Amino acid sequence: MTEPALRVDGLTKSFLGQTVLNGVDLRIAPGEIHALLGENGAGKSTLIKILAGVHAADAGRVTVAGRPLRPRHRLADAAAARMRFVHQDLGLVDELDVTENICLTSDFSSRGGLIRFGASRRRVREVLGRLGVDIDPGRRVGDLAQAEKVMVAVARAFSAEARLIVLDEVTASLPTPEVARLKDLLHQACRQGTAFLFVTHRLGEVFDMADAVTVLRDGRRIASARPADVTHDQLVEWLVGRYVAALAPRSGESHASAGTPVLRVKDLRATPHHAPLNFTVGAGEVVAFTGLVGSGAREVVRCLAGAQRPQEGTASLRGRRFPLGDPVGAAGRGSRYVAGDRQEGIAPDLCVRENLFLAHYCHGGRVLRPRRERRAADDLIARYDVRPPQASELPVVTLSGGNQQKVAIGRALSGAPGLLVLDDPTVGVDIGARVAIHRLIRQTADTGVPVVLASTDFSEVVSEAHRAVVMRDGRVGAVLSGADLTEQRLISESYRAREVA
Ligand SMILES: Nc1ncnc2c1ncn2[C@@H]1O[C@H](COP(=O)(O)OP(=O)(O)OP(=O)(O)O)[C@@H](O)[C@H]1O
Ligand SMILES: [Mg+2]
Repeated sequence: MTEPALRVDGLTKSFLGQTVLNGVDLRIAPGEIHALLGENGAGKSTLIKILAGVHAADAGRVTVAGRPLRPRHRLADAAAARMRFVHQDLGLVDELDVTENICLTSDFSSRGGLIRFGASRRRVREVLGRLGVDIDPGRRVGDLAQAEKVMVAVARAFSAEARLIVLDEVTASLPTPEVARLKDLLHQACRQGTAFLFVTHRLGEVFDMADAVTVLRDGRRIASARPADVTHDQLVEWLVGRYVAALAPRSGESHASAGTPVLRVKDLRATPHHAPLNFTVGAGEVVAFTGLVGSGAREVVRCLAGAQRPQEGTASLRGRRFPLGDPVGAAGRGSRYVAGDRQEGIAPDLCVRENLFLAHYCHGGRVLRPRRERRAADDLIARYDVRPPQASELPVVTLSGGNQQKVAIGRALSGAPGLLVLDDPTVGVDIGARVAIHRLIRQTADTGVPVVLASTDFSEVVSEAHRAVVMRDGRVGAVLSGADLTEQRLISESYRAREVA
């Protein structure tokens, strides 16, 4: 019998006295696509970082293709065993270009000890082309959109002959159609014997892509199974420990129609490549901007939030001028923003409490007494189910990715926003928190707040938006609402050549 590509036995790890992994076992056959599921904070990324040699396990063993790695193995050992990783935070260097980022781990082309940049760039162009990724190898990574960064990190993992490729929530920030393309890439590679371990919060992907699935809960392995042998409800029960009706898959719901327009945007050109855009958002209305990577949807929303400066355009909120491209001015008018890029959305050096009240500090809120602030923080932590529950004074970077996102959401929704601007708000949050966040967004909208959402997740657009603007090449491709707002229509409109101006 062939050896498993990866075998993990009894992996155990604690941080600061908290057990994060507890005797976890895992087997992945060569050429197998294995999904790893678990709620935010269940220990998925920790397991992956141990495999990669970033963290050392307290106990347990990792065996790759029959050869045990030495205890407390290093990054180089993982690389020598031909494991490649796309970590949740991607691990790219913003200041370097695409070629440099890819060659950093897979070696530059060189001759006589000298790096041949031209040859390296050609090789990277070839790797990107093979994966169907249309990104110039000379672009600075810091200038790429989140989904483009994801594809660069994926290309880097695919560029070396790998035995096992580990993808930590890679699909989370990819638009729905691009996930389908990634799936094809995985299938191609696994036919050549490459095994995959991939983390996702989308149960649909497990049934669609995986040959096997393992569920972690509170650091323990709850079950491993073949997707064909389990139901959606069974997976949910393993994930959260009980059956939860609210987590059954939802199709689009009809929404009440929106109130009178309160946000008016005129001739907004987010970048030189954008056509002027005019739109209004009603009181209590949720308008989603969506499309493929590079469609320009996200930039529109970022201009509104003040995260980037538009080329031109004006806006008004409830009849008063609303500044575009001005984060402080926008916040001064009561606008709250959840950034799609977590690095942008949290202040890593501050603790959870300080992150929750950051907007309050910046915009002249009255000074809270520390004890009251701590109590308010505990309330928000409980309301958003941030884990661990005593997170208030912990540095925010020690939280799991999804829990950091809950902190960013908690900050935006607390208080009474006058406008809510959200860029992929549920990227990386687990299914329970996703339902909770959607409910809170709807509750906020129901108080008359206009909500502008950029989302790459078409099921989220269908279930949460009253109206979806599908962008293509910086212009409006289609506007969908009511019975027309379906995932199928969103996919076909995203791909359709520009027709409607
Ligand atoms: N460097 C660290 N120091 C202290 N605690 C940590 C550290 N890294 C992770 N943890 C804790 O370990 C637990 C598991 O985190 P991990 O990142 O593995 O979760 P996850 O399953 O990947 O969650 P998510 O779905 O949110 O990404 C969390 O409670 C987290 O706070
Ligand atoms: Mg994680």
